[in-house]
Amino acid sequence: MHDQHHVAVLDFGSQYTQLIVRRVRELGYFAKLYAIEDFPDIGRPGAIILSGGPKSTSEADAPDLDFAKLMEFGVPVLGVCYGMQLLNIKFGGSVEASSRREYGPAELLVEASSGLYEGVSASSQVWMSHSDTVKIIPDGARVIARNQHGTPVSLQWSDCCFGIQFHPEVTHSHQGLKILNNFLSHAKDLLPFKIDDFKREMIESIRETVGTKQIVCGVSGGVDSTVLAVLLNEAGANVRAIFVDHGLMRKDEGDEVRANFARMGVPIETVDCAEQFLTALDGVDDPEQKRKIIGNLFIDVFWDSVGDAEMLAQGTLYPDVIESASNAKSKASKIKTHHNRVDRILELQAQGKVLEPLAELFKDEVRELGLALGIPADILNRHPFPGPGLAVRCPGVVNEERLRIIRDCDAIFIGKLKEHGWYDRVWQAYAGLVPVKTVGVKGDERSYEWAISLRAVVSEDAMTADWVELPYQLLRETSHRILNEVKGINRVLYDVSTKPPASIEWE
Ligand code: XMP
Repeated sequence: MHDQHHVAVLDFGSQYTQLIVRRVRELGYFAKLYAIEDFPDIGRPGAIILSGGPKSTSEADAPDLDFAKLMEFGVPVLGVCYGMQLLNIKFGGSVEASSRREYGPAELLVEASSGLYEGVSASSQVWMSHSDTVKIIPDGARVIARNQHGTPVSLQWSDCCFGIQFHPEVTHSHQGLKILNNFLSHAKDLLPFKIDDFKREMIESIRETVGTKQIVCGVSGGVDSTVLAVLLNEAGANVRAIFVDHGLMRKDEGDEVRANFARMGVPIETVDCAEQFLTALDGVDDPEQKRKIIGNLFIDVFWDSVGDAEMLAQGTLYPDVIESASNAKSKASKIKTHHNRVDRILELQAQGKVLEPLAELFKDEVRELGLALGIPADILNRHPFPGPGLAVRCPGVVNEERLRIIRDCDAIFIGKLKEHGWYDRVWQAYAGLVPVKTVGVKGDERSYEWAISLRAVVSEDAMTADWVELPYQLLRETSHRILNEVKGINRVLYDVSTKPPASIEWE
C-alpha cells in the first residue's frame, strides 16, 4: 500500500524518528518509516527525510546509505541531525566532533533566505541533541541558519536538499512543524493522508486476503480491538470475535462490552473464565508472577476457543511494529510482545495467516478510523484499560472481596468524573486498592479497614504522565459516596505522583 508519492523517513536510530512520521502525517501527508537496510525497497517516494541517530559519522560501523540512489530519485531530501551530517559528507564536505556538546534548547537564527524558512521567525527556539557538527561545507552549499554560538545548524546543498542539525519533530522546536511543512512544499504530488482512503483500501485488502476463510480476532472492549473487529465485519469477512472475560474487568464491564458490540451490530462470543483466573491467582502476591499467570492463561484460553480457524487478526499498531522491528534489528518479528508473542502466532505468521490491518496507523489515527467506521465516540474515547485488568490495581493477592471493593469504588469515581465533565479530559482514571488496614470510626464503632487510592492522569503516550488537578468538589463527592457505600473502606486517598518515578498503574 502507498508505495508512491509518500514521504519516506529513513531511520538512523534516533529516539525521535517515529515522531517525524507522526508530524508529517499531522501535516496531511502519508509518511512511512524505513530501516536503512530497506532503503532499496522504498518504492517511489515524493520526499525523503533522513533521521537523526546515536552514532557519529566517524565511527567504523556508522550507518551509511547509497547516495547515488538517493539522488536518482530527484525528490526533495531533508537530513535531520545525523542525517544532515551524513549528507554533508556525501556532498563533499566534512564533519567534526565538537568540543561543545549540545543537548536541549538552542536558538535558531535564520541567516539566508531559503524556502525552508519561509514564514519562520528570524530567531526561534529549537531542540538539539548532538555532539558532532559540520566542518567543511562543500562548494555550492550554503549555510542557511546558525545557532547562538555562530555554528552552522542548517545547510542547503541544492534547490531541494536541506539539512538541519536540530529536531523539528519535537514540540520544543517551536517552529518545527512550519519548517517541516516548508520542506514538504518542495515535493510534487505527495499522497495526502486521508483516513477514508485508508478505510477503503483496508477493506479491499481484507477482502482480497481473507476471502471466505474464517478469521478470528480477540476483543477486549478497548479501542484497537474494537476498531479491528468492526473493520473486519465491515469488510464482510467471516469473522469470529472472541471476548475472553477473565473476571478482572471493571464493574459490569462484560455486559457493557457486549452491549457496545450489539449496538454496532457486530456479534461477539464471550468466553467466561473468571473462576479459572481467580483459582490460578489464588494466594499469589508477586506482581510479575501475577502478570505471568494471567498472560499465559489468557493465551491458553484464547487459543482453545480459536479452534482450527484459518486466520488470525491482531490489532497491532504502527508504534508496535516499529518498536519490535528496531528491537529485533530485523523485520523478522514484527509482533507485539506480551501475549502476542507465542509460537503459534509465529507459525501462522510464517504461513501468511496473521492479518494486522491497523499496522500502519498511530493510536489517534485508529480512533479516526473508528469514527469513519461509524463507531460511537463514547466507545472510542474509553480510557485505556490494561490487559491484566484489575490485577494491576490490586497490590498483593487478588480475590473476589478485593475485586468487589475496587469495582465499586472505581464505578463511583468514574461516574463522578463523567458527571462533572472530567472523563474526557483525562487520559486514564481509576481506583486502586491500598491493602493496608488502619483504624477509623464508623457510626459509634471503631473500624479497621483498607484505603482506596484514586488516580487520574494526563499523558500523551503513557510513557510519562502527570496527575490531574481535579476539582475538590469532585473529590469530595467521590470520597463521600465511597465511604458511605463501599463496605471495607474507611479512607480515600488521591494519588499525586507523576510518572516517572511512579507508574500509571498500581500493582
Ligand atoms: P504503567 O503502569 O506502566 O502503564 O505506567 C502505562 C500504560 O499501559 C497500560 N498498561 C498495560 N496495557 N497490558 C496492556 O494492554 C498490560 O500489561 C499493561 N500494563 C500497563 C496502563 O493502563 C497505562 O495506560
